[in-house]
Amino acid sequence: MGENKKVIFSGIQPSGELTIGNYFGAIKNWVKLQDEYDCYYCIVDLHAITVKQEPKDLRRRTLQLIATYIASGIDPEKNTIFIQSHVPAHVQAQWILNCTSYVGELSRMTQFKDKSKKYEDTGIGAGLLNYPVLMAADILIYQADLVPVGKDQTQHIELTRDLAQRFNSTYSETFKIPEGYIPTGGAKIMSLQEPIKKMSKSSDNPNSFILIMDPPEVIKRKVARAVTDNIGVVKYTDDQPGVKNLMNIMSCCTGMSTADIEKKYEGQGYAKFKEDVAEALIQELEPIQNKVNELLKDKSYLQDICKKGAQKASYVANKTVSKMMRKVGFILPEK
Ligand code: TYM
Repeated sequence: MGENKKVIFSGIQPSGELTIGNYFGAIKNWVKLQDEYDCYYCIVDLHAITVKQEPKDLRRRTLQLIATYIASGIDPEKNTIFIQSHVPAHVQAQWILNCTSYVGELSRMTQFKDKSKKYEDTGIGAGLLNYPVLMAADILIYQADLVPVGKDQTQHIELTRDLAQRFNSTYSETFKIPEGYIPTGGAKIMSLQEPIKKMSKSSDNPNSFILIMDPPEVIKRKVARAVTDNIGVVKYTDDQPGVKNLMNIMSCCTGMSTADIEKKYEGQGYAKFKEDVAEALIQELEPIQNKVNELLKDKSYLQDICKKGAQKASYVANKTVSKMMRKVGFILPEK
């Protein structure tokens, strides 16, 4: 693996079934980066337990996520695919970084504020507050240059940079300062029911999202029911958020520019346009779904990829953690 290549780290939580937001905002871009960069693509299961998970669902989704990475075109020979909890360095680094973080900055994170509202009655877990520090640790222990994520993660990347800079200036140069890498079209796929909100796998309304694994008839139904407006013109404008979102989705699937999509549907209303959006999605997702199902038949193959991935990841991550330990004044264990 190229020593001189720049390093990429990114991950997805196995906390719900994956949506096309995760696919267009993250996975599809990762595939494009795999030749040029040394990529670490992680299944961030430690993050998933910041909210309650059913153990058997978490296990199933973790395997499905590995299969989805590979089925989407992330080559396990070229990339390091692994499960976060298999590399203890993430947690070691997180504790040290935790001790350099402030409750104030963590409680100001938008995602924390949103999630705390949701769990106000049942109790807000401490993991929700500390979660962005774990994300910072994920990125920094690989000395990542770039972090390809959707727009909703930009605040977390900013915090990562702040924590890295703080550590570097307190203890001397230790971390590379990473940058976010946000895709153009798929950066923020919106809810099909409330197109001013992000499409989210944790939404209570299944009509608001399309899952990567949704069968064709479900995709057709959900797109047909997607909220638009009564303007009746396929136009890429913030005044028509529902239509704009469907155009983005079509553009992500077909590579067509939004200007070309406007031209193609000029004077046609929404019916044919929606049918074609659904068709484009089916074309994109069906081959992936078939491959995921195929891969899930051979769990030991998937486990083997993760084992090799974790070995390689640990080697790199442990080097950074040793450095961190030395700098804060810990005595390193004898080798
Ligand atoms: P998560 O699991 O919520 O989402 C995974 C990726 O999918 C992107 N995404 C979207 N992109 C466009 N439109 C949407 N509607 C949409 N919904 C989700 C997210 O931006 C993300 O890139 N904290 C992270 C996981 C994480 C991580 C990391 C990422 C943990 N450690 C280190 C990068 C580097 C998260 O909860 O993503």
